[in-house]
Amino acid sequence: MALFEHAPDRASIYEVSPRDGLQNERATVPLLGKLRLVEALALAGLRRVEITSFVSPRWIPQLADADEVAARAVAPPGVVYSALCPNAEGLRRAQAARLQEVAIFASVSETHNRKNVNKTVEATLAGCEEVAGLALAAGMRVRAYVSTVWGCPFEGEVDPKRAVALARRFVGMGCYQVSLGDTIGVGTPRQTERILHAMFDEVPSERIALHMHDTRGTALANVLVGLELGVRDFDASVGGLGGCPYAPGAAGNLATEDLVFMLQGMGVETGIDLERLVEAGKVAESVVGRPLPGKVHQAGGARIRHPSSPPRLG
Ligand code: HMG
Ligand code: MG
Repeated sequence: MALFEHAPDRASIYEVSPRDGLQNERATVPLLGKLRLVEALALAGLRRVEITSFVSPRWIPQLADADEVAARAVAPPGVVYSALCPNAEGLRRAQAARLQEVAIFASVSETHNRKNVNKTVEATLAGCEEVAGLALAAGMRVRAYVSTVWGCPFEGEVDPKRAVALARRFVGMGCYQVSLGDTIGVGTPRQTERILHAMFDEVPSERIALHMHDTRGTALANVLVGLELGVRDFDASVGGLGGCPYAPGAAGNLATEDLVFMLQGMGVETGIDLERLVEAGKVAESVVGRPLPGKVHQAGGARIRHPSSPPRLG
């Protein structure tokens, strides 16, 4: 039986550490530390980076300097910086900073959604529609997150049909991509297969990204399922920084180094220089001032060759 027959030649990584990572740190990282991190990520070859969040500073004080971060982080040619926007005020701030892309978001489960943005899912989608309409009219790109797809910290299991319905709504709003979030890192491979089969009945796989938190160590296993089923876009966070402050237990996004190490070993090109990425992870660790959990971050890996990688034939 041949495994990985459908693994692609290339995959794309969307980096979330300056937003999903830093929003969950106890200590607020100073502005210059944030800018150093963003710069190190772009240097490593990441082409899409979510650099901050234009949410309420009362809700996420760690990112209260979003306006300064976005204004001062100048994207090199070919690199797109994005930011999370919960409402029209967030978009106004993103536009003032001249960002070209924003990310909107809603949860599948009502309880997580309310704890996260203080609204029902339906009211949140109405707000997202407004933001998407305004952003697209201004020539920006819009990405969307559907959160708690694999499970909710308050409601438990979630029906994949509800995730499909939300993803369809976001595609209908004109989002170029919908990122499915395992917000609390509870997903397992067969569940991922079920969710993606349900999703691809109604939403093309090219529009879907996976945003896996690695809380229980299953993120890469779920990525493999996604790769095999046609997903080509994955979110990750250098060093494994990350979480969601309104989802208890959400600590730890999939570490970008771990994802790149695995993909490169499988012959899947990402355009990222792993050695420089490991350096970016060191910058992340130094600016947050605590050890980070990423496996490659801790063990290294930049110089290891993969004797098992098959040569690609055509
Ligand atoms: P609210 O308190 O219901 O909002 O918060 P409001 O509209 O009543 O406004 C309250 C105050 O906030 C007002 O100021 C507004 O001006 C201000 P006041 O008059 O009291 O001085 N305000 C804002 N200020 C700055 N920027 C804004 C903004 N909007 C209102 N954009 C709100 C509603 C949505 C604002 C709030 O709940 C919020 O900011 N929530 C964000 C929570 C968050 O960031 N969570 C983490 C991100 S989601 C995530 O991590 C999951 C993800 O990674 C995917 C996955 O893992 O599944 C994406
Ligand atoms: Mg997240």
